[in-house]
Amino acid sequence: MKAPRELWTSRVAFILAAAGSAVGLGNIWRFSYVVGTNGGAAFIIVYLIIIAVIGYPMMVTEIALGRKTHKNAIGAFKALAPNTPWWLVGALGVLAGFVILSFYSVVAGWSVSYIFKTIGGSLGADADFAGVFVGHITSAWAPVIWHAVFMAITLGIIAAGVVGGIGRAVRILMPALFVLLIILVLRSLTLPGAGAGVAFILQPDFSELTAQSILGAVGQAFFTLSLGMGCMITYGSYLNDKDDVPDNGAWVVALDTGVALLAGFAIFPAVFALGFDPAAGAGLAFITLPAVFASMPGGVLFGVLFFVLLSIAALTSAISLLEVVVAWLVDEYDWSRKKASLIIGVLIFLVGVPASLSNGAISFNIAGMPFFDFLDFLQESILLPLGGLLTAVFAGHVWTAKKTREYANTERGKIVLGGWYDVLIKYIVPIAIAVVMIFGLIDKFS
Ligand code: PHE
Repeated sequence: MKAPRELWTSRVAFILAAAGSAVGLGNIWRFSYVVGTNGGAAFIIVYLIIIAVIGYPMMVTEIALGRKTHKNAIGAFKALAPNTPWWLVGALGVLAGFVILSFYSVVAGWSVSYIFKTIGGSLGADADFAGVFVGHITSAWAPVIWHAVFMAITLGIIAAGVVGGIGRAVRILMPALFVLLIILVLRSLTLPGAGAGVAFILQPDFSELTAQSILGAVGQAFFTLSLGMGCMITYGSYLNDKDDVPDNGAWVVALDTGVALLAGFAIFPAVFALGFDPAAGAGLAFITLPAVFASMPGGVLFGVLFFVLLSIAALTSAISLLEVVVAWLVDEYDWSRKKASLIIGVLIFLVGVPASLSNGAISFNIAGMPFFDFLDFLQESILLPLGGLLTAVFAGHVWTAKKTREYANTERGKIVLGGWYDVLIKYIVPIAIAVVMIFGLIDKFS
């Protein structure tokens, strides 16, 4: 006989797991370099507006779809629209989970290896920080081994189940993450000259904004909130029918946004105080920050704390990516959780190997980009926006906005979705995503 589907043990367990999914490399590594290269405060303001107008409605929609059906990403669409092709939206999500995790785990592996590089002294004051980073990611073995270690931990947690694996891990990891982040913010803000970094994230200069940066803000919003790929459908499916949706969704969005902003306060004051360039790009966390740590008192300790923080954030997101795929196989094909975790975990690891190698160890291009960049492009420019767009159309026009809203409102909490929700999910969200997607793709290939 099949065991009954698991449910979160409490409301807090759901919020921690969903916030753990949302808070990840996206909030710390990606957010800081996107803010840094897009001019700081003005970009943050646009990002916050997009989080409120697109992010929050999408979040409650996905959680509602999950709680309503108690099904995985594909099963949820099948349950609400049987014998229609809508299940393909869920399939896109399962594919996205697979694609994202295969390179996400490689980056997470860099982060874990940087804990040891910092302890081992290879990132001391006289190090060639860029050289160490490029040397690491372009080498054949080290990043693949760390990727294997990280995937092994991820699949171990998922194999242990929703309550015993995910629930237990986030109860320890999320508080640890908050404490580490606060320590780093305090260290950064008390460095002499930190004020310029604070001004960078608080004083907007709107002349810095470009159409590209607005596109970037939408992409960042989806990625950081784990939206558009059935992740919040899957996590929502383990909610009790008596659990509220709008308030829980608000908690997840608020925690994710709070962590991103705090990460900004941990990173930019230190970068400015020590005279580094905030617009360093994707290398900010792995090249600039180690240099910042090396030139400040107690740098080894704070460097280690930072990379532990980044690794924890990555782990609680990675488990949610794997869970999307595993939940599908467990629900739809009656696979055991252990078998699904092991097989999918190993497959994702295997796809991640050429992704890692394409950073320099071998030459492996698809559509004119290294395979690693191609996977990132695929999720950011196609899978997540398309998944989000179709999910919004489904909830707004097929299940219908009114039904989605009434269902989400059944357990009245502090927030009650109003008619504004219908307008956002039916028109604003899909149109905004479509515009961003089309301009993004034109820009990319012109
Ligand atoms: N939200 C995670 C981050 O910010 C990434 C992620 C995307 C996780 C999609 C799950 C689903 O790092």
